[in-house]
Amino acid sequence: MAEIFASKTAEIEEREVINAQISRKLAGECMVLLENDGALPIHTKKVALFGNGARATIKGGTGSGDVNTRNNVNIEQGFQNAGIEVMTTAWLDRQEQNTSAAKAAYVQWMKEEAARKQTSELAVMFDHPYKEPDCEIITINDIDVSETDTAVYVIARNSGEGADRFDEEGDYRLYPHERGNIHLLAEVYDKLIVVLNIGGVMDLSEMRSIAGVNAILLMSQLGNLGGDALLDVLTGKVNPSGKTTDTWAENYMDYPSSAKFSHNESVHDEMYEDGIYVGYRYFDSFGVKPLYCFGYGKSYTDFEIKAGKISVEGNEIQIPVTVKNIGKIYAGKEVVQVYYSAAGGVMEKPYQELAAYQKTKLLAPGETEEIVLKYQAEQMASYSEKEAAWILEKGDYIIRVGNSSASTKVAGVIEVCEDIQTLKAKNLFALDVALNEIHPDAVKLEEKKKEAASYQAEKIIFDTTAIAQKTVVYQGMRKEYHTDKTDKITMQDLLSEKATVEELVAQLSTEELAEFCVGTLRADGGEVVGNASYTVPGAAGDTSSVCKESRGIKNMILADGPAGLRLQPHFKTKKDGTLLPGGEVMGDAYTPFNPNIDEKEVDNYYQYCTAIPIGWALAQSWNTELVEKAGDMVGSEMEQFHVDLWLAPALNIHRNPLCGRNFEYYSEDPYVSGKIAAAMTKGVQKHRGKGTTIKHFAVNNQEDNRYFVNAHVSERALREIYLKGFEIAVREAQPLSIMTSYNLLNGIHTANSHDLIQGMARDEWGFKGVVMTDWFTSQDMPMITGKFKPAYPISASTGCIYAGNDIQMPGCQKNVDDIVEAVKTGKEIDGYKITKADLQFNAANVIRVVARTM
Ligand code: BGC
Repeated sequence: MAEIFASKTAEIEEREVINAQISRKLAGECMVLLENDGALPIHTKKVALFGNGARATIKGGTGSGDVNTRNNVNIEQGFQNAGIEVMTTAWLDRQEQNTSAAKAAYVQWMKEEAARKQTSELAVMFDHPYKEPDCEIITINDIDVSETDTAVYVIARNSGEGADRFDEEGDYRLYPHERGNIHLLAEVYDKLIVVLNIGGVMDLSEMRSIAGVNAILLMSQLGNLGGDALLDVLTGKVNPSGKTTDTWAENYMDYPSSAKFSHNESVHDEMYEDGIYVGYRYFDSFGVKPLYCFGYGKSYTDFEIKAGKISVEGNEIQIPVTVKNIGKIYAGKEVVQVYYSAAGGVMEKPYQELAAYQKTKLLAPGETEEIVLKYQAEQMASYSEKEAAWILEKGDYIIRVGNSSASTKVAGVIEVCEDIQTLKAKNLFALDVALNEIHPDAVKLEEKKKEAASYQAEKIIFDTTAIAQKTVVYQGMRKEYHTDKTDKITMQDLLSEKATVEELVAQLSTEELAEFCVGTLRADGGEVVGNASYTVPGAAGDTSSVCKESRGIKNMILADGPAGLRLQPHFKTKKDGTLLPGGEVMGDAYTPFNPNIDEKEVDNYYQYCTAIPIGWALAQSWNTELVEKAGDMVGSEMEQFHVDLWLAPALNIHRNPLCGRNFEYYSEDPYVSGKIAAAMTKGVQKHRGKGTTIKHFAVNNQEDNRYFVNAHVSERALREIYLKGFEIAVREAQPLSIMTSYNLLNGIHTANSHDLIQGMARDEWGFKGVVMTDWFTSQDMPMITGKFKPAYPISASTGCIYAGNDIQMPGCQKNVDDIVEAVKTGKEIDGYKITKADLQFNAANVIRVVARTM
């Protein structure tokens, strides 16, 4: 009989109530106040509420990141819960009818299409995401009945896995009716507040040009108490303290990657010609003025930030800062940000880069807090492809302090008198095609860096001996493990240190080893992606149970995130524990239970988890402490539902706003991304035996044709931008697991990249956990992967073993067979030759992590 850990009652548990409040508290800090002329906070008793997100509030994006929850407090309910009367229910009803009809038509089409193509509904959903129709037009009558001077207009946009967004109306831009509605409201209401219930940057230039929009609040997507959290901010109960983690451009085409991004040019080859100039690194260095800069966000109060005298202790740079709430009414929190401008040397350097940040405590009006921000000098080094090393080049490093990337003051200058090689590595990612990277005007850029620094009084000379120079030792040939022990070694022997993992692995047959390196695919008709676990329905998969009975090595259960734990909230089993079909899996893919079930013959189980704010929103809180608490909360739900590895956090870089999964990811900046991922990991891993899986490693910045897109990126950009966040997370928090991405990187699938997995993560960063593939990585399944005719082959199962990609998820029999054949015959299969030593190495990594989850 299957082990089932879910709850047998549908009653709300105390844990749900407590966790929802943690999530609400966090959500309050995730919102970014973009504009406010004093209209916020509101003090009204009645509101005219409009917009497609007012009732159909989005709690998180679509796909595997969509957390199934018991309830979703929408914005209309948020107003009602806060005691504010919503006067526009007639309009909201019309809007609901409109969208429900469109949604119902889509769901029907999706089901028929899945049947026609003999594929899963999820595959259809991923390839052809639902696009909501334009909004209902607001009439004078809707306005007349509202009896208030305050209107709130909620713009919602959804996006998700499997498809990129479009620079078109109703997506990146406003729909015509939305535009008309906002114009009208701006004319007739004294106060018009626009709320953005979105998962990624959209065009706001048009909105900003409308006179009469009094405030714009980036609510983002906040999990299941979104409506309540929003009202906390709108009414002033919570003072918004979020800051943008992306640069918001005037025009989409201002982003350097836009012209060629994904479907804008080719979905097969993505040329990273923007190099290291991603986000503010581009806008600041090329003199392009954004609409909202990186790190920006207003508050209901004002702060004064004063930096004290910078000092250097060994290799640590310390910046004392005093923050004072100089407002009279509202308490609030401020985010102090430290940037450095490195002088251009042999290598060119962007105008500035984020070095450290800290959020203050809640400061009452008049209250002051003194903080000291710290970071290590090595952090300012750049990667030289020529030297294959990180080098802190000689020159001036101007330190700037402020509350956004555009509002900083110079706090000091650190002079490095000679080049310091901080880490000697080796080049791992040669380009497979020529890449024409962009470069700023060097003379202008260097002048700009020095402008504000020219009156800087003090310069600190950096003691170059304070940095311990290191050289990476890379793994050599893997050696086969042998043992003389003949008694069957079990997990218990490992835990009691009677035997080593290597000895255990040496006793396993090639077949058993191969099984360890391939997950278990649910064969009984479960949905293809994200619902493959035998034991915890709705979890995305299990690792092998091949030696569960014989040696006590349990299967690990893996469940998605990042906006909470995605499980099936309600399922049914026969009395013998056999799972019955039906229930909610993900988004619109809902299979009804058999209506003729005899309830006396079945057991009902419940797994209600908490939806927390999406990754983008979490990062916008810039509050690592709170994010750690959120991780702690997820960890407690993992304990309750017996999930071992959480398939989150996700931290790919926001290179272009149209990437369909930007909502799951944190930022355009690797430092923020890495810090937030590390905090989340620390929170989850406080729970013994629970681990995170940082994903998608790496360069998963495009969703169209995600299984086959070849990203061509220079090694410097890779290391400084796209891998840096992963490095920070690994070095600071040692997540138990890493998930590789689907795409190719300079011609090699990341899943098959020995240099990425072994060379970078394990050898350079010291990663100790297990690496797994993303779902169906090495399976030729056109029904899942084939919307675009691929220009490259699928990744190889044997390549995963060669690379040290320990588990192929969820795996199939062919994966196992290929591995066994390749090892036994020594034959090259799909381009890779592998040995028993390779296979043992991977299996040992799996078993080591299983031991940590016990
Ligand atoms: C996604 C992963 C997810 C996995 C399991 C894949 O389609 O890319 O992020 O963890 O499915 O659901």
